[in-house]
Amino acid sequence: MTTNKRIALSSDHAAIELRQAIAAHIKSKGWVAVDIGPTTPESTHYPKHGQAAARLVASGDCQLGIILCGTGQGIMMAANKIKGIRCGTCSDTYSAGMIRQHNDANMLSLGVRVVGDGLALDIVDAFLNASFEGGRHATRVQMIDALQA
Ligand code: RB5
Repeated sequence: MTTNKRIALSSDHAAIELRQAIAAHIKSKGWVAVDIGPTTPESTHYPKHGQAAARLVASGDCQLGIILCGTGQGIMMAANKIKGIRCGTCSDTYSAGMIRQHNDANMLSLGVRVVGDGLALDIVDAFLNASFEGGRHATRVQMIDALQA
């Protein structure tokens, strides 16, 4: 695949290695990885990193985002606080495709303590290879976005 599409990547300290593996993986598929770290293993705070990647997506600088922490849950909650972000945590490939097809998710969250490296890359591929179906789902996505004050 050839694409100029940019994907924002961030994590907390727990998931640096998997995040870097995902960056290399998506680059090999033709995506531009905008990896904003962190790169050193000191303990850090996932809300800071989740919101930073989410702002890149919300601003249009990046088309999609992939974020990681231990469970994928905390960093997803932080990203979803940013207006315009629809982020789901996935530990299976079916959900990763469906959050784009039906929910028009623009960010994917992964838990490094939940999924192994191989499954994580498959989940990333399922997310990136799916596209929004629109139609009745567009109405529902608009309803989600309207909830954001
Ligand atoms: C950090 O130990 C851990 O709490 C974090 O990575 C994440 O799992 C939070 O949701």
